Amino acid sequence: MLPTIEWQGDHVVMVDQRKLPAQEVYVRCRTAAEIARAIKTMVIRGAPAIGVAAALGLALGARRSQAKGTRQFAVEFNRTCDMMAATRPTAVNLFWAIDRMKRAFSHGALAGESPEELAARLEAEARRIHDEDVESCRAIGAHGAALVPDTACILTHCNAGALATAGYGTALGVIRAAAEQGKRVAVFADETRPFLQGGRLTAWELVRDGIQTTVITDTMAGPIMRAGEIDLVVVGADRIAANGDVANKIGTYTVAVLAHEHGVPFYVAAPLSTIDLATPDGARIPIEERDPREVSHFRSARVTPEGAAIRNPAFDVTPHRLIAAIITETGVCRAPYEPSLKAAMEGATAPAFAPSALRRGSP
Ligand code: MRU
Repeated sequence: MLPTIEWQGDHVVMVDQRKLPAQEVYVRCRTAAEIARAIKTMVIRGAPAIGVAAALGLALGARRSQAKGTRQFAVEFNRTCDMMAATRPTAVNLFWAIDRMKRAFSHGALAGESPEELAARLEAEARRIHDEDVESCRAIGAHGAALVPDTACILTHCNAGALATAGYGTALGVIRAAAEQGKRVAVFADETRPFLQGGRLTAWELVRDGIQTTVITDTMAGPIMRAGEIDLVVVGADRIAANGDVANKIGTYTVAVLAHEHGVPFYVAAPLSTIDLATPDGARIPIEERDPREVSHFRSARVTPEGAAIRNPAFDVTPHRLIAAIITETGVCRAPYEPSLKAAMEGATAPAFAPSALRRGSP
């Protein structure tokens, strides 16, 4: 499987996603600050992968600590948590992972552990977060594959694949699982301006897997749907609010509106770590604004005139009414999302949440 991010000896290695598919370059991070920088500059990106990277970064910081005692160690750890939290604001997996690492720290501190013991505990927790993410993706794939017809043409936006997670992917996990079950799947990958996660990363992953892939510009999705060429849409998520509104890569909302207009089911695939019950609706999700250069320039060449203002929100919010189902590792959530997401988070059963008997079909 594709190595997105890995702990190797005394450092963390990740593939530089800015350089794919032209070059497969691996970046070695030896400090927490290097990991924070890798997240901020999108060496590694995708909500679950960002969470995993932050956890590994916190563990790395703890390993490198020169703190004299537990008190100083705790001060350093909290500072490192703040540094990680300041990298990217939208993907809630980042904050989820930091909270989990903080809880691990508290358990160890309450048990009176030494800095060395705490560091070992944090490393074990970060490795668990990594491994659990792969398991979640596989389970999402299994639940989601049941929603895919035996022959299907699937549209996806951005990259919600192995590269965006610790491995296997969420939206691409669904596609992979369907293909592994022998279903005949073909994929349209939206290019995903301006960072081209779809054209570069999704297409790269799927081609490596031997899945039929066609890259289209974001503007082509409408006429292709109208021509009846798309059977379903599946995308990932950066944050899912309590009411089922979904923040994902800019352009996702447009795809959801198009899918609704053309009667195409629009699915979201995400682990429970992406669900944020503390945020009531999509309007409260912080949307990252990125460097205008990503829009005004193509690589180093300027493509817009000097003097034109640029906007670069990296994410948008798809209202829950446009979403046919949210596929998680524990089952498929349907509207009304408030109770079904809550049930999924609590591991319970609500009428619209199908943990075992998977439902098939359209919205
Ligand atoms: O800015 P990015 O590349 O980090 O945004 C990634 C996305 O929007 C993905 O679709 C999302 O994180 C889901 S990843 C499984």
